Amino acid sequence: MRNFSFHNPTKIHFGEGQIAKLGKEIPPGSRVLVTHGGGSIFQNGVWAQVEAALAGFAVSRFAGIEANPQFDTLVRAVEQAKREQCDFILAIGGGSVIDGSKFIAAALCYAGDPLDLLTGTRIKAAVPLACVLTLAATGSESNPHGVVTHVARQEKLPFSSALLYPRFAILDPRTTFSLPARQIGNGVVDAFVHTIEQYLTYPADAPLQDRYAEGLLQTLIEEGPKALADPEDYAVRANLMWCATQALNGLLGCGVPQDWATHMIGHELTALYHLDHAQTLAVVLPALLAERRAAKRAKLLQYAERVWHLRDGDEDARIDAAIAATQGFFSRMGVPTTLSEHGLDAEVIPQVLAQLQRHQMTSLGEGRDIDLEVSERILLRAL
Ligand code: NZQ
Ligand code: ZN
Repeated sequence: MRNFSFHNPTKIHFGEGQIAKLGKEIPPGSRVLVTHGGGSIFQNGVWAQVEAALAGFAVSRFAGIEANPQFDTLVRAVEQAKREQCDFILAIGGGSVIDGSKFIAAALCYAGDPLDLLTGTRIKAAVPLACVLTLAATGSESNPHGVVTHVARQEKLPFSSALLYPRFAILDPRTTFSLPARQIGNGVVDAFVHTIEQYLTYPADAPLQDRYAEGLLQTLIEEGPKALADPEDYAVRANLMWCATQALNGLLGCGVPQDWATHMIGHELTALYHLDHAQTLAVVLPALLAERRAAKRAKLLQYAERVWHLRDGDEDARIDAAIAATQGFFSRMGVPTTLSEHGLDAEVIPQVLAQLQRHQMTSLGEGRDIDLEVSERILLRAL
């Protein structure tokens, strides 16, 4: 196992009714910037619960952080927070609102052009933030990462800082009952792919991390379709919510090799063609596994046996069956697995490759050997 340091400081309040704890967790006297997306929090009763729990605090509400949060929108939120002298941020929503709020938290403490924070300048300070999660998918509720879209540059820019872990996160599975089917599918696929990217590389003498990953994958496979069939099954939603948090809170990836190529190629597809984040992953991952079957052979066989219980046939047949099963699962979750299902054809490939080059994404994967030629082959397989 490789050396690692692990410290996840986010306190989690999990379960029904936990939004009421907000008032006790936010430091008394705080001036709170509450951030959210479109209208969902008003329709599903989440806002009413937050408003009640925040009684007594000075609150400034910023609405309209869009899916794939946009730099220009977030800069407006920074201006509002400065005007209102906010010193605590509460994000209510999914990954986009939480990521966007992390950026706001850092930009509020930065004197220069906030774009610097997305192009390499280290984040040295941030306003404290917390969140109420309403969509289980990204793990942003208890990790230090964010991704912000710059529309004019057609870029999705990742950033990260230990200062951006939410101070606390409220995870009430009931808040997810109102998700449309498309977002249920997206959430399950995103958590599944986060797990795969920290697991399906090569054996690394880390049997606990392997079994932990396999447990997450099997739980997502079992519970995901149930959420589509019965959106108000609390137990199912609770299990999915906890899986999604665990899939990207840092624990799973401790001491093991990782391969984030699917995400890096996927981010370019979202920036260029506006596919949902998880839609890009469902397209890229099966193609990547097929293309990388030699480098990932031992782990693909382990995945086939332990996750999909595939024990018959020769090794290549079992690997083929595992990749097909992965694709079938994404389809069952209602998420398409080819570019053509999104109306995209081979003409997009040169554009995606040019973006990967521009962003220095030319040596991806656990072996740093996914160069532009390999990415091209992956995209060809994804058509
Ligand atoms: O804006 P509203 O009206 O709230 O609607 C949202 C939004 O349109 C809706 N929604 C959220 N909760 C709902 C709900 N609708 C009904 N009921 C609810 N309870 O869902 C739509 C999508 O929300 P969004 O936050 O965009 O989805 P998700 O959580 O999948 O986040 C995706 C973003 O996270 C980034 C992605 O790149 C993308 O920008 N990621 C962040 C990561 C991280 N911070 O670690 C890692 C991920 O790999 C990912 O890159
Ligand atoms: Zn993701």
